Amino acid sequence: MALFPGRVRRRDVLIAIILLVIFWLLTPLWQYSPKPHGIVRRTRLDYRPQQEFWRYLHTLFKKNDPGITLPERPGPAALIEYNDTHEIPRPELLQIPQTAVDKIRDAHKGFVNDIKVDNAQWSLPYKPNTRGIVTAASGVSFPILLVSLRMIRRTHTTLPMEVFMMLEEEYEPDICEGVLPSLNATCVIISDILGAKGMKDIQRAQLKSLAILFSSFEDILWLDSDCFPLRDPEYIFQSEVYQSTGLITWPDFWAMTTSPLYYEISSQHPLPLKERPSTEAAELLLSKKKHSLTLMLVSYYNYYGPSHYYPLLSQGAPGGGDKETFLAAASALGEPFYAITERARRLGHPTMNGDLVGSATVHYDPIRDHEPITHEKLQPKNEKATTLPRALFIHTYYPKLESATIFDPFNVQPTRNPDGKWSRAWTKPEETIYNVGFDTEIHFWEEVKWVACNLENKFLSWKNKWGVCERVTHYWNSVFEGIQSSTAN
Ligand SMILES: *[C@@H]1O[C@H](CO)[C@@H](O)[C@H](O)[C@H]1NC(C)=O
Ligand SMILES: *[C@@H]1O[C@H](CO)[C@@H](O)[C@H](O)[C@H]1NC(C)=O
Repeated sequence: MALFPGRVRRRDVLIAIILLVIFWLLTPLWQYSPKPHGIVRRTRLDYRPQQEFWRYLHTLFKKNDPGITLPERPGPAALIEYNDTHEIPRPELLQIPQTAVDKIRDAHKGFVNDIKVDNAQWSLPYKPNTRGIVTAASGVSFPILLVSLRMIRRTHTTLPMEVFMMLEEEYEPDICEGVLPSLNATCVIISDILGAKGMKDIQRAQLKSLAILFSSFEDILWLDSDCFPLRDPEYIFQSEVYQSTGLITWPDFWAMTTSPLYYEISSQHPLPLKERPSTEAAELLLSKKKHSLTLMLVSYYNYYGPSHYYPLLSQGAPGGGDKETFLAAASALGEPFYAITERARRLGHPTMNGDLVGSATVHYDPIRDHEPITHEKLQPKNEKATTLPRALFIHTYYPKLESATIFDPFNVQPTRNPDGKWSRAWTKPEETIYNVGFDTEIHFWEEVKWVACNLENKFLSWKNKWGVCERVTHYWNSVFEGIQSSTAN
């Protein structure tokens, strides 16, 4: 009692109350946690075919467990820029005992054998003769997806979209039920298929392969949530290159730093490093009918990805190993695929010393890549002549569309000139911009603004944020107001 004389205690209590109030007021500023929305009434689709298929596939995964956790990579990650003329030796950065390599190889052989021999016992769940776009989004990536989806609809494509997320807590009823249906998109929750128990083994990196596996479409265009096409992509499904291979991927800037041990494990000859770059996998096309086996092996690589195949396939290169699993699986099975050779290009704007601050990546048309003979025919009409093929996809890595980071003065500034003034984000290199079309960036910011101002109160991740619309509008007015985009709507 003597330790707490009445006078001091009153003051302490007062201070404690003030601190609590301040804490309570500030909490929303740094805390975002998706709140359970109580009982969400939503239409649960019938996932029985997916559930049944997963039970079967999961048994095969467990039967062919590669065992033994890999030792940590002792040195730095592989980081090699792709070079198509200059051959360098394939890096070997993993130290795995031969006994472990043998065990992983036997399990790989076992799995491949099982899916080939057993193929009367299963059929991949999908609706025949359907095409669609598949993606994943949750939390902070939902607003970004909405921008991409509105850009997709600007191409007038009627391809439907399925949006995958891991858990029920990530489901956003306001978006999934109030906004997406008008854009021909539906939400799918992986845990509805795997069950709460089945999610135990699953990590976020595996989401792409699961989404493709469980999508209801036969022919799939996968798009990361921050990717959009510049024209209706449906024609690629009809193209000869897709019809003959059923799997198309686009390249990354980095070398494909797959470990030589992976080739031993999958009984393949290692490719020379200059043969093809690593896969970007922000966009890819896949036929579930033609590539059932590939997709099962992709799922196996992803199921044992964090523990085995991600380090084996990329040795820690940027983007991780899941993006390599598609072509790795197809080539291990001897199935056809087409990896676009036209290299990706960065879009950005210059810094003080003339370097490029990239904020987007451009990927090119597979048709022209595959059939160079048609170059002339498809040359864009009203744009400066360019030797580039048609730009087809933009993968934006800015803006990240969070009020906390968009236009953050402490970030590298893709939207400010070196002199500090607001500017377009995509002004360089000139040839890449001409090819993409100068208006594309205006259209993109029109959609950023539309989403920020029309859906400001809808996203879970924006519940405690403010000023998103205001900030985007301010930027828009400073940079684009008065500029008439040629197809403004
Ligand atoms: C490839 O490597 C060679 C030799 O180091 C170099 O001269 C060339 O510029 C590189 N090419 C690219 C596209 O980086
Ligand atoms: C929505 O997708 C279906 C295919 O599932 C398609 O037939 C329909 O035309 C699409 N509607 C719109 C408005 O894009």
